[in-house]
Amino acid sequence: MTSKFSSRVRSLVPLLLATASLYGCGAADDGADRLIVIKFPHVVAPSTPKGQAAARFEQLVEERFPGRVDVEIYPSSQLMNDDDSLEALAFGEVQMIAVSLSKFDRLTHSFQVFDLPFLFSDLEAVQRFQRSETGQEMLGELVDSGFLGLGYWHNGMKHFGAPVPMRDPSDADGLKFRIMESDVLQAQVIAVGGNPQKMSFGEVYQALQTGAIDAQENTWSNIYSTKFHEVQPYFTITNHGYVGYLVAVNPTFWAGLPDDIRVGLEEIMDDVTDWENSRAAEINADNLERIRESGRTEIVSLTAEELDSWRTAMRPVWQQFEANIGVDIIAAAQSAN
Ligand code: LMR
Repeated sequence: MTSKFSSRVRSLVPLLLATASLYGCGAADDGADRLIVIKFPHVVAPSTPKGQAAARFEQLVEERFPGRVDVEIYPSSQLMNDDDSLEALAFGEVQMIAVSLSKFDRLTHSFQVFDLPFLFSDLEAVQRFQRSETGQEMLGELVDSGFLGLGYWHNGMKHFGAPVPMRDPSDADGLKFRIMESDVLQAQVIAVGGNPQKMSFGEVYQALQTGAIDAQENTWSNIYSTKFHEVQPYFTITNHGYVGYLVAVNPTFWAGLPDDIRVGLEEIMDDVTDWENSRAAEINADNLERIRESGRTEIVSLTAEELDSWRTAMRPVWQQFEANIGVDIIAAAQSAN
């Protein structure tokens, strides 16, 4: 099924074309002969949902535009961390990013909805919200800040890893938690008595190993591919939050592309987005099994009652961020469940 993402993006393009010519970027046909290089850095392993989708995008683009478009993928924080990539996109040092929605926190408050604890029941619910009118509008929300959203890619639902089995919120008391750069996640950890530390993804393994942090939250694919399970004795299945990405380009760069290339890249992106989103849950489930089979850590499952106590402890975070995010956005997200 082709997603609706492209229609939203395409409706912005005439406006962007005007902006591109203002910035002297060249009208659509001027650069028809030049090799277009798309540098696409990201921070996770090639085996993760995002890593696989980025590689597929590269392959499909180069098959369709041989000698005209060169996509260069830099996985595993090889080139830069996510924070730096937000700036690099604005300065044209890289041309495409897929950064966690949580990390757009300083640019927009509405994306904070994706971090509200226990808001979405599963990835299908997130997807319904992302495909809703509200979700589609949010794709274009950061254009003025220099980010044109081409689509949302899932990773998966988050779980806690810790030095102790986390059955009750009181087990988090006093633990140092690594979190992504998000104020909602900071409030979430404080709500259960933990000590939140914002840290880039590439630093987490070592911080766990040296004891600079005690605990963290992430998806099974990020945990498995980065071997967090080898340095964390317990993981608790909570599904308390979501990790997903805004795939974004610089609007001026995008509008300056030759028409046939821009349209072709948007078509490929739509296909890759559908492909990625239909596989993410499966990759995470597979990676959970591999973690279990490794015997390097213990996986804790909670009863419905235990899970409820986490939900209750974290719920005040919603009220804290309601005004920032907007009640309409939260209601639209809830109705996707
Ligand atoms: C994290 O920092 O934990 C994630 O954003 C990494 C990723 O890109 O999935």
